[in-house]
Amino acid sequence: MFLRMHPCNNPILMADINLMEKIVSLAKRRGFVFPGSEIYGGLAGTYDYGPMGVVMKENIERLWLQMFRDDRDDMYGVDAAILMNPKVWEASGHIQTFADPMADGKMFNTMFKTSVGAGEEVSTVYLRPETAGGIFTNYKNVVDALHPKMPFGIAQIGKAFRNEIAPRDFIFRLRELEQMEVEYFVKPSDWEQAFEEWRKLMHLFAEAVGLPQTSVHELEVCDGDRAHYSKRTIDFEFEYPFGRKELWGLAYRTDFDLSAHSKASGTELSYLDEETSEKFIPHVIEPSLGVDRTILAILTSAYREDDMGGETRTYLALSPKIAPVKAMVSPLLKNKPELVLKAREVRAELQKVHSAIAWDDNGNIGKRYRRQDEIGTPFCITIDFDTLGPSNSSGQANLKETVTLRHRDTGVQERFTVSQVAKRIREAIL
Ligand code: GAP
Repeated sequence: MFLRMHPCNNPILMADINLMEKIVSLAKRRGFVFPGSEIYGGLAGTYDYGPMGVVMKENIERLWLQMFRDDRDDMYGVDAAILMNPKVWEASGHIQTFADPMADGKMFNTMFKTSVGAGEEVSTVYLRPETAGGIFTNYKNVVDALHPKMPFGIAQIGKAFRNEIAPRDFIFRLRELEQMEVEYFVKPSDWEQAFEEWRKLMHLFAEAVGLPQTSVHELEVCDGDRAHYSKRTIDFEFEYPFGRKELWGLAYRTDFDLSAHSKASGTELSYLDEETSEKFIPHVIEPSLGVDRTILAILTSAYREDDMGGETRTYLALSPKIAPVKAMVSPLLKNKPELVLKAREVRAELQKVHSAIAWDDNGNIGKRYRRQDEIGTPFCITIDFDTLGPSNSSGQANLKETVTLRHRDTGVQERFTVSQVAKRIREAIL
């Protein structure tokens, strides 16, 4: 945003339009992402997450909360209102500068306007263009309520809105988007160290959600291309099917925001270090991650086609942590009550490990596997007559109480006891 033309950008890779079409099609077919308001012809720049997408999104956000907030002693959470006093956006510089050029060169402010109140009382407000605003305005509340020691940070996940002139590339450039943001408050002299720490954590997060290190590249944003509040910005770029583009950003926002809000609101926003009696306006490091761009990057890097049994198979090689369904349990035949009963038991047992254990007894087993492959389910478990023991079939005695475990990426099937399968699933999603 903020007029980044990236003159120092790396060369854009050849676009793979075909791959993009396949991802969009799979996302719809399997319930990950649907066009917004589709039955009315859609609304540009809006998409809805379907049953698989919403769980995948929650998995990503939960992992982010764990790594960026909960595993740390120096992080706090907030969930601020989307509608804020418009003075916030005046002080932050968004009313003056949050603009993109239109075709005729005129500048267009991309903040969405709406109004609050009625009649004489009506006034214009904006839908927040970044979640950061609600963090800065709560800085003092968090300090007063919890007395955190410097350095500390505030994390928030939430919607942001931008009236993009040209929304495009599926969920890459949206008008309604979701951000996972941290504002990390430091002593002015400590900013470089904090910048490096968050930079490392962002790479660890990329790895944790299953993005290969080779597909995430850092780009030092040049002077003149950075947002007005930033003294240093690194864009984390990803090789999307339409080229290498910004996935996330890491910015050094200096004391720009707290100083501006302090001045505009008349509220003291400096920090008093009780040990040294030092008083200063904290400087800020901001790792900002778009959820939708993360999802598109994950779908892009996980999309696979191979040949299985003489047919082209499509599957998503999702990290088990992120996969919406961790395993699917299936009776070999749905019209054999003894198999169904046993399979139900096995499913209930595995649900003690994780609730997202699907049930599928529709169609032949091959079709069931293919459906799970397309949503990235790492394991499929089948209960057959051998599971029940030799008295029920020609099966071998030593296979009693064992099930087949099929691995998504290879299609390889192994025989395990239910507790061994439970252990495998537990280890994979840890
Ligand atoms: N608070 C800083 C900030 O908002 P930004 O670079 O404008 O900085 C941060 O946005 C992240 O939000 C981006 O790196 C991207 O992941 C996501 N993002 C920004 N605009 C977006 C859009 N129109 N659609 C989807 N995601 C977007």
